[in-house]
Amino acid sequence: MSESRFLILDFGSQLTQLIARRLREIGVFSEIHPFDYSLEKIQAFRPKGIILSGGPSSVYEKESPQRNVSELLRVAPLLGICYGMQLIAKELGGEVTPSSTREYGANVVRWDESFGSLPQLQKVWMSHGDVVKNPPPGFVINARSESGHAAAMKSNRVWAVQFHPEVAHTEQGSEILKSFVLDLCQAETDWNPPHIVKELIEKAQTQVPPSEHVLCALSGGVDSSVVAALLTKALGKDRVHCVFVNNGLLRKNEYDSVLENYKQLDLNIRGVDAQADFLKALKGLTDPEAKRKAIGKTFIDVFEKVTSEDLKKHNICWLAQGTLYPDVIESFSSKGGPSQTIKSHHNVGGLPEKMKLKLIEPVRELFKDEVRKIGKELGLSDQLLGRHPFPGPGLSIRIIGEVNETSLKLVREADAIFINHLRDHGLYDKIWQAFCVLLPVRTVGVQGDGRTYEQVLALRAITSQDGMTADWFPFEFEFLRDVSNQITNQVRGISRVVYDVTSKPPATIEWE
Ligand code: XMP
Repeated sequence: MSESRFLILDFGSQLTQLIARRLREIGVFSEIHPFDYSLEKIQAFRPKGIILSGGPSSVYEKESPQRNVSELLRVAPLLGICYGMQLIAKELGGEVTPSSTREYGANVVRWDESFGSLPQLQKVWMSHGDVVKNPPPGFVINARSESGHAAAMKSNRVWAVQFHPEVAHTEQGSEILKSFVLDLCQAETDWNPPHIVKELIEKAQTQVPPSEHVLCALSGGVDSSVVAALLTKALGKDRVHCVFVNNGLLRKNEYDSVLENYKQLDLNIRGVDAQADFLKALKGLTDPEAKRKAIGKTFIDVFEKVTSEDLKKHNICWLAQGTLYPDVIESFSSKGGPSQTIKSHHNVGGLPEKMKLKLIEPVRELFKDEVRKIGKELGLSDQLLGRHPFPGPGLSIRIIGEVNETSLKLVREADAIFINHLRDHGLYDKIWQAFCVLLPVRTVGVQGDGRTYEQVLALRAITSQDGMTADWFPFEFEFLRDVSNQITNQVRGISRVVYDVTSKPPATIEWE
């Protein structure tokens, strides 16, 4: 693992993940743990620096998350952000009080002395009610906000800021994090794609003994493809058995084009046509969760069946999965104790237990953008790496109501038109995800001289950083008009097209 490791203790802020991302962008490895992560584990992690995140509580509230700051300080230099700054102040003998002027949103802070390349007047983003009235002994206040409150303080081994350097609204916020990492903690930046690939390969080689083989279920998406390429490089083609199941819920021509794309990676891969099994399992189902469950179960059955020969022939002990870091972060929820973010979309859920396989998750410490970067390092094509995320249950959750061959054909054709338009207009890479949703609603239309009574199709296109929150994409009206015209002209069965203008939250990205 990287020598320059940073630990982020989470006190319940919505922004904690952003701190981890910013540190990794700077080029150092970082992990998030709940605020009460044990001292022994922290010492064993050997962090170069520790960051105390923000949080919604007040340090003097009875139930607020507390932490012995002196013991942390004996392990590594500290950076406190917002609540983190107040906790440091309180714990080390300073004074924190409620403020009459709450500071929310944009603010400008004035630094007492120059701070690297930061402007002396820096635009920042704040969200706090309490303020540090008196810093602890040995500290100086080195920046103040517009209303004169302490905006930053420092001592020999501790820096603290009342604003949020991790958010984009704080100008040059990353400079502060970078300076903490490089200057105060004297860390080396060694977290880069070649280094990550080397580490992950070594880790997989240690984890899987030479006599053991791995099964890898491919979805055609970025994560599982990177996992397959990585493990193949680490363990050799003979020991990594990849299976790509055509569940009949893929987009137009997707099965063939994905298999074609995989050719360049020289994987030991087998395509399996199981369209009929999935359609049969989905027959008569309309409830979204019932559909997901039926697909999950069918996937397990098909996978078990098609790999039974492999299991007899080879010593397969592992199942590879493309779990990402946001799915495993255990963070502190201010609304009721520590909570675990659980992956709700477990595409191979149940498989490892059923097949009695151990789970290997080589990219579980990485964010999506890092997976893309190491994919590039491993030689995956831009086409594969830039592919929009596609859910495991595929088009089935984009057909509201029952899934059958007719509805699949409609949504598949419409989707191809929409996506081609995006590509033709150079919009595909600007959008996180775009797709069509077929609604179980018929409306009256007129085509030629005749009255029609056909289905409604919704277009959805969103921008997002990580799929957790999302905004709808502001297309030009002409673009929407062209897509709508082409779909209603070319796809018999759809007579009306609407555009979904709902962000996440309150909606989710998919409709089911
Ligand atoms: P939602 O709809 O929850 O989606 O806002 C967030 C992201 O997850 C994808 N998604 C899934 N992916 N299996 C998956 O592999 C699923 O069951 C599933 N449901 C949603 C969705 O496409 C978006 O990228």
